[in-house]
Amino acid sequence: MTDETQQIHEVIDRVIRPEQVHRDVYTSPGIFRLEMRNLFPNSWVYVGHESQTPNPGDYITTQIGDQPLLQVRHSDGEIKVLYNRCPHKGTKIAIDKAGNTGKFFRCPYHAWSFKTDGCLLAIPLKKGYQGTGLEGTEAAKGMAAVGSWHNYRGFIFARLAREGIAFEDFFGDSLSSLDNMVDRSPVGSLTVAGAPLRYMHRCNWKMLVENQTDTCHPMVAHESSAGTAVKIWESMDKTEDTPKPPAMEIIAPFMSPYEFFENMGIRTWPNGHGHTGVHHSIHSDYSAIPGYFESMVEAYGEDRAKEILGENRHNTVYFPNIMIKGPIQQLRNFIPLAADKTLVESWIFRLDGAPDQLVARTAMYNRMINAPTSMVGHDDLEMYERAQEGLMADGLEWVNVQRLYEEGEDLSQEAVLNGTTERQMRNQFNAWKRFMIGGAA
Ligand code: FES
Ligand SMILES: [Fe+2]
Repeated sequence: MTDETQQIHEVIDRVIRPEQVHRDVYTSPGIFRLEMRNLFPNSWVYVGHESQTPNPGDYITTQIGDQPLLQVRHSDGEIKVLYNRCPHKGTKIAIDKAGNTGKFFRCPYHAWSFKTDGCLLAIPLKKGYQGTGLEGTEAAKGMAAVGSWHNYRGFIFARLAREGIAFEDFFGDSLSSLDNMVDRSPVGSLTVAGAPLRYMHRCNWKMLVENQTDTCHPMVAHESSAGTAVKIWESMDKTEDTPKPPAMEIIAPFMSPYEFFENMGIRTWPNGHGHTGVHHSIHSDYSAIPGYFESMVEAYGEDRAKEILGENRHNTVYFPNIMIKGPIQQLRNFIPLAADKTLVESWIFRLDGAPDQLVARTAMYNRMINAPTSMVGHDDLEMYERAQEGLMADGLEWVNVQRLYEEGEDLSQEAVLNGTTERQMRNQFNAWKRFMIGGAA
């Protein structure tokens, strides 16, 4: 072990205990830099959906932590994931969020050009490089590709490191949540619906990830928003048959009592992944959309259609930094920018071949719960920012994630437990620790 590796081991060992996490994990710029160097490059991180780049030459600019990337559809029809950096002097090749570059990228600084798989195509005044040995340099290879990438049913994940854990080994059985979201389309595919809702959070990215399986806060933190809506609905003149408006169907379950969340269950998988809503969830009681079930039966047969739609997983966390909601077709990406700064993108998907009312409800959910102007998301943001400030208090150094902890808990095994356990948070920190150290080994 080199001195540096030894030092990293010591730092990481100091900040993680099985049931507690040191505040530095959320506040230290040094730990943040280590996350960018070890954790993110060695994990499989979501970069985009294939429907964002349907045609050759289509690209999106994306990122893994502080690494600027391009997802691009090459002329052979395959998606490539490249660093968004010119091999000449480093200029970002593409600036727009999305576009079509045609058959090649052209750097805006000195016009070096590259095929859409990154290979160097041409350099102006090439004669000036004759005899200089340029062909043996990194620059001559063109734009660098990331270590590896994988298209899983339309979702593009990348691993920056050249060597490391394989895609299937990293995700394992957790892919069943992605499968369920895609299987909800009668033709088995999704399309990104519009631009995401994007907003900045002045807090550490892990607070957002943890909150996705924190089932002890909704009825408390969302009382002023969801609680008020429920009170107004209950005070209105109505009969037993008065249908609940779609907005009430979405917001009312946030006020469910503790027992509801205890009984909903939580499942954790190795490598930091897990989901709430094993038995039921806040998405279980949405009303049927006319024609949808019929189209699913036609596509899959009645038994399989019921099986797919009966799965109402709430939030599935894909470690390190996304969450999906299969039953309402959403993906939230928590992009770390600094120890105390996180950009959140909330994407929604259309189920190909399904009625439009479904995507309308999905969009309503996103506006009500996740938007920069939403009612519910703002409650959470307020709590993260208060935590980020509160963690500066010197009187205490540790954050507690001990709920339903049992000594000797084996996080390398899948488990289903009481929905209010904090096991999934411990599971994330267990993976965090391994990848932070593993990257340095
Ligand atoms: S920096 Fe890109 S061509 Fe010079
Ligand atoms: Fe919340």
